[in-house]
Amino acid sequence: MLCCGARTLVLTPLGFSLLRQLSDGAFHSGEDLAAKVGLTRARVSQLLRQAETAGLSLERVRGRGYRLVAAPDFLDGAAVRAALVEYGVTLAANGLSPLKTPNADDDIGLPGGEALAEIQAKPPIHLEIVDQIDSTSSELLRRAPRRDIHGAALAAEWQTAGRGRRGRTWNAVAGGSLTFSLGWRFEQGAGFLAGLSLAVGVGVIHALEKEGIHGVGLKWPNDLIHRHLKVGGILVELNGDALGPSTVVVGVGLNVRMPREMKRDIAQPVSDLTSVVGRGAPAIDRNRLLARLIAELAGTLATYARDGFAPFAAEWQHRHAYQGKPVKLLLPDGAAVLGKVAGVDASGALVLADGPRRARFLAGEISLRRA
Ligand code: BTN
Repeated sequence: MLCCGARTLVLTPLGFSLLRQLSDGAFHSGEDLAAKVGLTRARVSQLLRQAETAGLSLERVRGRGYRLVAAPDFLDGAAVRAALVEYGVTLAANGLSPLKTPNADDDIGLPGGEALAEIQAKPPIHLEIVDQIDSTSSELLRRAPRRDIHGAALAAEWQTAGRGRRGRTWNAVAGGSLTFSLGWRFEQGAGFLAGLSLAVGVGVIHALEKEGIHGVGLKWPNDLIHRHLKVGGILVELNGDALGPSTVVVGVGLNVRMPREMKRDIAQPVSDLTSVVGRGAPAIDRNRLLARLIAELAGTLATYARDGFAPFAAEWQHRHAYQGKPVKLLLPDGAAVLGKVAGVDASGALVLADGPRRARFLAGEISLRRA
């Protein structure tokens, strides 16, 4: 979600160990919690107040202690790995992703030729889940000069400096969102990769549908929306030479369960995937959803590396909630353009029609206009 008002959002590692104690949904006395994490009761109470600012709902009852009203299913590395294997993904060994080798062919024992090309096209996925980080995308970008981040998937329960498109802040609910990034290496440069973020949107929708979440659409360039309310966003960042190779970090943020008060606090209309599936549907399993997203996006990136945006273009338009609709496009310089959405071109640029005229745009925000 895009944020928001003046609240300070803080969750410390100690806060997380407390929340894990509480994740069974039962009451725990302040005394018990304090003893389990080795803190004073006053500190426990302070940390739990911080958890509330992070979107978690706590109940306090004199004589019984604290209880998480909606106990989050915290991300669990073992569960995500098991689901990744179930979804046909090859996993890399645990630990940090490998250091970069200046020339992989110099490494004795490493595969070469076709085997190497195969690994590069579909690298083993190196999964890492952390409680807290500034931003999963910033972290992969920081690692990229030293480490091989091709296939590195980093998910965080809580980002202290999550970033959205166009310099915006991206905040999430601890235990109620998915925030992760996937690193990838492409032989091609920025021109070839222009439509990549749109292709990722298609990949995310496929992943949601495979997990039984139907009804999410796209809003150019890559918002994920339901009934015109934003449920997630995609941020694709790349480094490299204009003609390639390029290192890409794909960041995805999804609202899975967001408290109503938090939705109200946000500057733009938002929703969550729990509302998409509707009341009465089984709770969304964030571990399986994360695995599905990583599996699907690995496939999307491999297809894009081979064939570019072309295989995604028709489906992207089909999934575009604004296709054929009259819109206002707000350009980055503040100017506004009116037109009907004709679609996207081969590079992912938005094509607006004004009568017989067509104009293409690379950046901006669209909003629906009354016909
Ligand atoms: C948008 O503005 O719509 C894009 C939001 C992208 C947010 C994700 S959350 C994981 C990754 N880390 C970040 O700091 N941002 C992206």
